[in-house]
Amino acid sequence: MRLDTPTRLSGSTIALHWIVAVMMIVLTLSGLYMAQAKLYALYPWHKSFGVLIVLFVALRVLWRIRNGWPAHVGRYTQIEQWLARVVHWLLIVGTVLMPVSGFMMSALGGHGVSLFGLELVAPNPDPADPQQVVPINALLAQLGHWLHGLGGNLLIGAVALHLVGALKHHLIDRDGTLRRMLGAEVQVDS
Ligand code: HEM
Ligand code: HEM
Repeated sequence: MRLDTPTRLSGSTIALHWIVAVMMIVLTLSGLYMAQAKLYALYPWHKSFGVLIVLFVALRVLWRIRNGWPAHVGRYTQIEQWLARVVHWLLIVGTVLMPVSGFMMSALGGHGVSLFGLELVAPNPDPADPQQVVPINALLAQLGHWLHGLGGNLLIGAVALHLVGALKHHLIDRDGTLRRMLGAEVQVDS
């Protein structure tokens, strides 16, 4: 499979970046909205896409390990390089932490998890009141819930910084960082 070069990113890097980016943004915004508005009809969809994204996230993490991170397009200050690296790490860790914590909260909370109707973990109804569920492990379910909420807020901050960085490269530095992630062959100043 073709690897990234400094002037051109591979199809795998580009496809995985944009598939995961769109799914992450939609899942984060829809998650916040449905939890706030208590739109329970959306929960099975959120969980299904949240489980599906794991496939792309796993491929992406394996691809990063094999390919390394993309080289810089221009000469940037140490601070800029450090900030970009920290944000990329936060984003990639977020893509792993969010599905794992969501799964913990739902499965161990006794609510069950299905993938577009296919039952992955059955709900655990309360024998005294079958409308209610009993947690399988209340402590871990609560930890998952807490991590999921914290992760969602951290992700919004990290994606905002990431977007500002991408726009700064494009509009102020006028370099090829954003165009390269959109598939273009670019000039590198190194
Ligand atoms: C990358 C994947 C995911 C992202 C980005 C994401 C994002 C979010 C966000 C930001 C919230 C709102 C949090 C809050 O206000 O407490 C949320 C809520 C929720 N998520 Fe996820 N989620 C993902 C995957 C999952 C998975 C895999 C499951 C379960 C299998 C899940 C189950 C839930 C549930 C049940 C809620 C509602 C929590 C409540 O009612 O307080 N999520 N999600
Ligand atoms: C808001 C829209 C987005 C834009 C315009 C954008 C743009 C970019 C650009 C231009 C790069 C290349 C940086 C470089 O060459 O050093 C990049 C890399 C990266 N982006 Fe995004 N991005 C967006 C959303 C996201 C989201 C939502 C995530 C994950 C949650 C994400 C995760 C990453 C990661 C981890 C990298 C490092 C390279 C890689 O793993 O592919 N991006 N992004």
